[in-house]
Amino acid sequence: MLTVSDVTKYYGKFKAIEHISLDFENGTYALLAPNGAGKTTLIKMITTLLAPTEGEILYNGAEIRRLGAEYRSLIGYLPQKFGFYKNNTPVQYLDYLAALKGVPKAGLKERIGKLIELVGLSESANTKMRKFSGGMLQRVGIAQAMLNDPKILILDEPTAGLDPKERVRFRNIISELSRDRIVILSTHIVSDIESIANRVIMLKDKRIYRNDTVDAIGAELEGRVYETFIPNGERMNIGGGFLLSSRQERGGASVRFYSEEKAEGTLCTPDLEDFFLVAYRDADDSAKWS
Ligand SMILES: Nc1ncnc2c1ncn2[C@@H]1O[C@H](COP(=O)(O)OP(=O)(O)OP(=O)(O)O)[C@@H](O)[C@H]1O
Ligand SMILES: [Mg+2]
Repeated sequence: MLTVSDVTKYYGKFKAIEHISLDFENGTYALLAPNGAGKTTLIKMITTLLAPTEGEILYNGAEIRRLGAEYRSLIGYLPQKFGFYKNNTPVQYLDYLAALKGVPKAGLKERIGKLIELVGLSESANTKMRKFSGGMLQRVGIAQAMLNDPKILILDEPTAGLDPKERVRFRNIISELSRDRIVILSTHIVSDIESIANRVIMLKDKRIYRNDTVDAIGAELEGRVYETFIPNGERMNIGGGFLLSSRQERGGASVRFYSEEKAEGTLCTPDLEDFFLVAYRDADDSAKWS
């Protein structure tokens, strides 16, 4: 078990996150928060790349930086900014990284082949990566993080730049991988994790804002999310409500909104996306809608 125990991180005098406590067991954990909330900071501490200013991170009761190489051999990591050697093929690249990481030579060729198959790149295994799409590169990134068959797989914004089809493929890969390990992934895109996260960890104001299941978080807004149809030419009036989304339809728009007071419209089942939009409504719009 991995435990983050009352961790606070300062960059100089700037406090990035404070009093974070979390427990991780096998399964998929999504760190869901807008830009700048502290996702990468927390992830880098879990990888030992950064040290907490206060608090500690424990693996089976031992402090991870003290465990050192023993702990690092248990983790796989896809950084948010990931460098590729574009003249390499996936096979060459994984081979090179395996050597860097000290992955044993025995059985390595087979392992690389299996990983390439797992991420759906068998047909491009010997193609130079300069021709790859963003999604293909991210999949090479996941494969390299899996080289040592990690007990803890950490993916920082793994879906950035993926198209819808690649997102579906990504979700399937993660579901497969999370069966017998801890998977921690960060994102600010709700739909990427809605169907695969066992738990969602939301950060706000430098602290944990929610740590619960997708369903439980969505259900918090029960009785406060409405949908209404606004015919063309009529002004939208959702009272003091907060607009969540609007969809053009024949003759008008179907509008989904949040209201703390009873409002005109049909009550609907709230979901994680609704909660995310409401939770961060005062934050920068680009983060909410991207
Ligand atoms: N090396 C650093 N020095 C100073 N401040 C930093 C440093 N790294 C991050 N920060 C600040 O700490 C806060 C958290 O940053 P962090 O990168 O952890 O957020 P994030 O949730 O990963 O954001 P994004 O979604 O943009 O990747 C931000 O305000 C950021 O500007
Ligand atoms: Mg980040």
